[in-house]
Amino acid sequence: MKSDAMQATELDMTALPAHVAVIMDGNGRWAQKKLLNRVKGHEKGADTVRMVVRTCREIGISFLTLYAFSTENWQRPRAEVSALMGLLKKFLISERQEMVANNICFGVIGQRERLPVEVQAEIQRTRDATRTNTGMHLNLALSYGSRSEIVRAVQNIAQQVQNGELSVDAIDEDVLARHLYTAGVPDPELLIRTSGEMRISNFLLWQIAYSEIAVTDTLWPDFTKAELIQILKDYQHRDRRFGRI
Ligand code: FPP
Repeated sequence: MKSDAMQATELDMTALPAHVAVIMDGNGRWAQKKLLNRVKGHEKGADTVRMVVRTCREIGISFLTLYAFSTENWQRPRAEVSALMGLLKKFLISERQEMVANNICFGVIGQRERLPVEVQAEIQRTRDATRTNTGMHLNLALSYGSRSEIVRAVQNIAQQVQNGELSVDAIDEDVLARHLYTAGVPDPELLIRTSGEMRISNFLLWQIAYSEIAVTDTLWPDFTKAELIQILKDYQHRDRRFGRI
């Protein structure tokens, strides 16, 4: 039987995407199918998050961005929102040492200030503990919405113009990109979505202009390391033309 490491070596390690972004979807449906509370789906989903982070680090992905909570998710029932925040806090506490040990630099994109203060505190501790790490950048999108990210960037740029720090002519794509939460992060070459929905759901709209998109019917809690590696292999066979021929 092939070990996980051998399976990974079949990937072309010289042609990996630098940045993989993931829309983790299907926790609720996974639970419903098993006649369980939706929260059980999120709990199982948190285990998949651990597996994906570990695998991407092992393989040598430089940037991993996971859509963990959208601005729209605040409208879910209070008990579900609170369970998700609890899982997030637990994840930050339980994974912090592993991130440190594995040279992972942790970050958040989104409206951090809207999160419960105890979650904000764990985020800050994890950021502080992993700040100088260089092995992989793990970004969680939390209270994240791409349109509001772009509006915020435009407001900041307009403020700079108003202050006389920037001329209108100097505003270009790089300036806008530098005002997004993802400033300094390369655009994802690969976007993965689980649970079969053909939607972007307000995720990284600017950044995915040329991303390859992989949608799998697998529900997030059932997503495996083998499937992740298969998606990466499929990505390596795609012909990326960026509008050229
Ligand atoms: C989508 O499932 C998933 C979410 C809204 C949240 C993602 C959260 C996790 C994977 C677990 C906790 C995260 C961390 C980082 C520990 P859904 O509820 O929209 O599923 P459905 O579309 O089947 O209802």
